[in-house]
Amino acid sequence: MLSAKMLEALNKQVNWELYSSYFYLSMSSYFESANLKGFARWMNAQAKEELFHAMKFYDYIVSRGGRVILAQIDTPPAEWPSALKVFEDVYAHEKKVTGLIHGLMDMAKEEKDHPTEIMLQWFVNEQVEEEENAEAAVSKLKMVSGDKGLGLMYMLDQEMGQRVFTPPSSKK
Ligand code: FEO
Repeated sequence: MLSAKMLEALNKQVNWELYSSYFYLSMSSYFESANLKGFARWMNAQAKEELFHAMKFYDYIVSRGGRVILAQIDTPPAEWPSALKVFEDVYAHEKKVTGLIHGLMDMAKEEKDHPTEIMLQWFVNEQVEEEENAEAAVSKLKMVSGDKGLGLMYMLDQEMGQRVFTPPSSKK
């Protein structure tokens, strides 16, 4: 059984994850309107991933005999001045979420709630990946939106990065 304090905190996280999904869906819609289909697709996948996160918390609360109480989801921003600013917001958002997950982990440890600690470990690892992806996107966008030579260097890097090692055939 979850403590009342842990249950309330986990319920708040369900809301955060749902807001995250809404946040990325709004970014997807922004990119669709700018005809940047690749970015829109990335954001759409991210929105689905956040919904998966929300359901992971939801299912966990239910499995511990808790009641999920859904609250109002805040309105996400709808406009951005550039693609770079969108991804800077993604990175800032993910850092915020990491802090929330760590706060939940601290609470679970204080309460000696071992099952919740184990469940949260997945999210601790996930946030490392989320921040890494967002930071990489920010640095790539800085490259392409700055000096032209660097933009071409980025594209060439992408092309060179397609190389895979194919072991030579053992036949002569
Ligand atoms: Fe659910 Fe992007 O963290």
